[in-house]
Amino acid sequence: MNTKIKNILSKKNKSKIICLTSYSKNISEILDNLVDIILVGDSLGSVLYSYNTTKKVKLDTMIEHSKSVRQGVKQSLMVVDMPYNTYRNKVEALKNAKKIIKYSKADAIKLEGGKKIVKIIDYLRKNKINVMGHLGILPQSHKGKFRYKGKTISERKNLINDALLLQESGVFSIVLECIETNLAKRITKELKIPTIGIGSSVNCDGQVLVTDDLIGLNLTSIKFVKSFSNIRKHIKSAVKKFIKEVKNKKYPSSKFSY
Ligand code: KIV
Repeated sequence: MNTKIKNILSKKNKSKIICLTSYSKNISEILDNLVDIILVGDSLGSVLYSYNTTKKVKLDTMIEHSKSVRQGVKQSLMVVDMPYNTYRNKVEALKNAKKIIKYSKADAIKLEGGKKIVKIIDYLRKNKINVMGHLGILPQSHKGKFRYKGKTISERKNLINDALLLQESGVFSIVLECIETNLAKRITKELKIPTIGIGSSVNCDGQVLVTDDLIGLNLTSIKFVKSFSNIRKHIKSAVKKFIKEVKNKKYPSSKFSY
């Protein structure tokens, strides 16, 4: 087993696992080794391209961003989201997972879903592809109004069942997106593999956020997002200094000229 994955598994019940998204080399260089997992999320569709759904994200777009990310990742585990309609059956899934890994040298890929995709995951695992699961809100198949998961008894049962099936199929961890607090706690307790929460309370084994949200670059009003910085303010301040020096003919001084 990949030693980075072994390291992630060993953190269960010991220390929190930190996962953040990256879509580029520069952000990856900053995150590398600070966080356990760097995820090239298909959230890039909404964050970078302003798509109203991640369904519009193409495989080639994920590959190009993953190649950029790879250049900045030396230590952390790198995971790439398989975009919508790239894993409709096991043959398609293996072909596309291999393509992502070939070009990006990613350590693992992430797929959204439970029961419906366990056979596909099983096939990927048999072919030595490391897989991360994703349950709860599934942006690639989400329809209608946003609502957290685990409101009804049947939804709770299905989510627990899905989590156990994913574990059985060999995923090394599962992202739990917007799952009710006590249900996230129950799933985390029942599983031997770690859960990584996003909007799923403090009860998960780790947390994931979109880096652009965390640093205040992407403006969003989603309940679970906390901005830990206001990077827009820092960028504006640097740009204003540049404008001032250009207008005053202070920049570029001889030091910055040939
Ligand atoms: O696409 C993404 O960035 C994700 C995380 C938010 C979990 O799937």
